Amino acid sequence: MSSDTKQDLNKRYLEKYTDEAKRYDQHRFHSTAGQITKKLRNGFFFEILRKYNLVAPDKKIIDVASGTGRVALELVTMGYKKVVATDLTNAMLDISRSKLPEQYKNNLDYHIADMKKLPFDSESFDGATMGAFFYLIPLEEYGPYVKDVHRVLKKEGILVCEVMNQLHLFNPVKFIGKFFHRHILGKKIKSHAYPWELQKAFAPFEVVDIIGTDFPYFLRMFGEKFINFLSKSSLTKYFGGRFVVALKK
Ligand SMILES: C[S@@+](CC[C@H](N)C(=O)[O-])C[C@H]1O[C@@H](n2cnc3c(N)ncnc32)[C@H](O)[C@@H]1O
Repeated sequence: MSSDTKQDLNKRYLEKYTDEAKRYDQHRFHSTAGQITKKLRNGFFFEILRKYNLVAPDKKIIDVASGTGRVALELVTMGYKKVVATDLTNAMLDISRSKLPEQYKNNLDYHIADMKKLPFDSESFDGATMGAFFYLIPLEEYGPYVKDVHRVLKKEGILVCEVMNQLHLFNPVKFIGKFFHRHILGKKIKSHAYPWELQKAFAPFEVVDIIGTDFPYFLRMFGEKFINFLSKSSLTKYFGGRFVVALKK
């Protein structure tokens, strides 16, 4: 992708999210389904942090493309003392700031920053989180976008992020739509990934865990417990609408 196009993406998203900031939470997280989905998706993030010994108050976590604070705010209320929230769009961070309870003010620092140029020293964070970002950029850009996150993580640090699944087999209509979009129309912004594309896309990170999420029909029919089971089972984890992926430095 040319540098002009890259510049355009920053401009496009800065405008989009500045405009959308005040409606962002309302549209995504306020309905009952939105609340349940947020709880499940955040739960998978914390499960990965726990698995890699990153749940402790003194662990330093950076939440990249933090937006209105879906992940960062939960990290501080869980007890983390040193969380940094970064985003390109100040209007999104402003919403997050407005929701931060007074008693956690010293535990969460906000920085306006492009994730490709993070204003932090190398190897300064134990872990990183990045919710709902990669569907915004082409697959071949995943690596360049996480390069600086890789730099600021300590050795063996973990980045937890979400990726939209191109192999969306639990929803055949969506799967056919995505297949058509990418392989027949050959659309340039191929922001969804097949499970087998993740390792190459995120190099030099190593993909160490994948949890499958977003099974809305099953959620409605069978509830959260079944979704939890389904998400982590070895065969079905790939087939939902998105993955929570653990990447190790
Ligand atoms: C879909 S929102 C996700 C927000 C939040 N992580 C969540 O899960 O709700 C995408 C966010 O990425 C931010 N963003 C877009 N390009 C970025 C970049 N180059 N560096 C940092 N943040 C960026 C946008 O400003 C926006 O807040």
